[in-house]
Amino acid sequence: MDKLIIDGGVRLKGSVEVSGAKNAALPILAATLLADEKSVIKNVPTSLLDVITMVKIIRYLGAKVEVQGNTITVEPKGYKGCTAPYKFVSTMRASICLLGPLLGKQKYAEVSFPGGCVIGPRPVDLHLKGIKALGAKVKIYGGYIIADGRNLRGSHVYLGGHFGSSVLATANVMMAATLTKGRTIIENAACEPEVVDLAHFLKQMGAKIEGESTHKIEIEGVKKLAGAEHMLIADRIETGTYMIGAAITDGDIVIKKANPNHCIALIDKLREAGVSITFGKNEIHVRKTRSLKPVDVTTLPYPGFPTDMQAQFMSLMCVTKGISVITEKIYPERFMHLSELNRMGANIILEGPTAIVKGVKNLSGAPLMASDLRASAALVLAGLAGKGKSEVLRVYHLDRGYEDMEKKLSRLGAKIWREKE
Ligand code: EPZ
Repeated sequence: MDKLIIDGGVRLKGSVEVSGAKNAALPILAATLLADEKSVIKNVPTSLLDVITMVKIIRYLGAKVEVQGNTITVEPKGYKGCTAPYKFVSTMRASICLLGPLLGKQKYAEVSFPGGCVIGPRPVDLHLKGIKALGAKVKIYGGYIIADGRNLRGSHVYLGGHFGSSVLATANVMMAATLTKGRTIIENAACEPEVVDLAHFLKQMGAKIEGESTHKIEIEGVKKLAGAEHMLIADRIETGTYMIGAAITDGDIVIKKANPNHCIALIDKLREAGVSITFGKNEIHVRKTRSLKPVDVTTLPYPGFPTDMQAQFMSLMCVTKGISVITEKIYPERFMHLSELNRMGANIILEGPTAIVKGVKNLSGAPLMASDLRASAALVLAGLAGKGKSEVLRVYHLDRGYEDMEKKLSRLGAKIWREKE
């Protein structure tokens, strides 16, 4: 296992390029299985563990996959598999997004039940509700979701849950519906940029979809889909993480190949705190020129403040004088980073799904245990701001979602390197 060592206190300066979006790559790679022909996906963060796992599953199902640089080519012709086994799903919950393509194309799917995860319960009731509404017969057996889609037909589906819309349930129903006879209407659909990117890819394949980027998506089923070429959108969470990297280190950086339109809620909160942010073509210039003030944040579905940026934003508020209130409305238990930040000298208390952060002058470096992907990023950011040395252990969590993070940060001047644990 690897760990990251960070010698904190260095201002980030220079420019950094963001990779393609992991959370767009995973469903789009799964969607290639709906076609009869080869698809080519560009700008894929191919070194990420989650992408590597998705490639393994697609190969396991029988499709041919070629990875060259940041391009992945999937040739699905003749693949017969319809099972996503536990050994893959247990390491990557997002494997659930194979349910829709397998059901749509093979009319049968067995996908291991993903179970809970460290960021709290991750139910799949909306996924099941959606495919049942399309006519799938679903049973849970042996830890698997077994879905028979021989009688699928277009339908009206409402996909709202306790915590609002669901990104991957919307993706699953949309993918299954592309090859399902009749018209499917998804109400309370998720409109995250990754869902929109998926819809764009499906449309290039010949799918008939309207309303993506709204809460009502309509899909008219077609008989078959062709292969397509597609360039993934920039990773808005990686973008946001580097934005906070600049803010937390008194830095001055330009983030390239980014899409500021996808980061509006974060930009709004950072500006409210006093961070200077300007845009160029596909770039964001982030500077901290004065002391910041605390701001309150509540996570919400897009275009609200993303849950995937909550932990990183908390790191920034830890070193911002005053009190900020951070409420998690998507995953109310997603606070694994909190106790580690407190071990660095932060002052955070938890009241249900709300963290009350009292800013301190300095954090001090410490050995830190990464627990999940975004919590790990928050610890790296805190380590960059902290005095002295931090060690972030179990860095494989970070490797699931950030390409070359220590290299990118090093190029910005950070003293950060990887060692064996
Ligand atoms: C996607 O997960 C992302 N993953 C997550 O990214 C992200 O945190 C999440 O969306 C929210 O934005 C991928 O895209 C691969 P949801 P997903 O279904 O689709 C509840 C990261 O760090 N819900 O939109 O699985 C759920 O519990 C991560 O990159 C149900 O109640 O999330 C949550 O409260 C982790 N029933 C809310 O909906 C369901 O059937 C939103 O979750 C499904 C979800």
